[in-house]
Amino acid sequence: MKTTNTVKLSESEEGYIETIFNLIREHGYARVADIAAALNVKPPSVTSMLQKLDEQKFVTYTRYRGVVLTRKGKLLAETLKKRHQALKKFLIMIGVTEENADKDACEIEHIINRETAEKLAKFVEFVQSAPQTPPFLEHFKQYNRTGKRRKECRVKGKAKKTN
Ligand code: FE2
Repeated sequence: MKTTNTVKLSESEEGYIETIFNLIREHGYARVADIAAALNVKPPSVTSMLQKLDEQKFVTYTRYRGVVLTRKGKLLAETLKKRHQALKKFLIMIGVTEENADKDACEIEHIINRETAEKLAKFVEFVQSAPQTPPFLEHFKQYNRTGKRRKECRVKGKAKKTN
């Protein structure tokens, strides 16, 4: 049987953690009614989910008093936030609109493996910390627009043979 430390939360459970984190950041607290409104669910569903997350030590929930994230819950929320940012940046990098990038990042962040998330974040960091936009990204932007590769992208040797 899995222990609470190794248990992987479902997409919906992680969504709650994310929402609670955002509400507390914005307002300083997270109430059942606010969580219900943010997630578009009924308050009783929120209550039972909070009890479940409390049992798993991600939140501390006291009826009528609201909910706070435990250290474990905060850690998960921060990981999700970082994942979200990296995914969003990556999607924008390859030409996705900001709105879709944001929506899709919020979905993808819950289903990818840790390894994938880490490599993706590294890739984004690598591209963004480059002194200038890497040529392949510029070339890709053009390819995205026109469907054609730039001449300098083609392998010279091969290009000559076919000419
Ligand atoms: Fe999300």
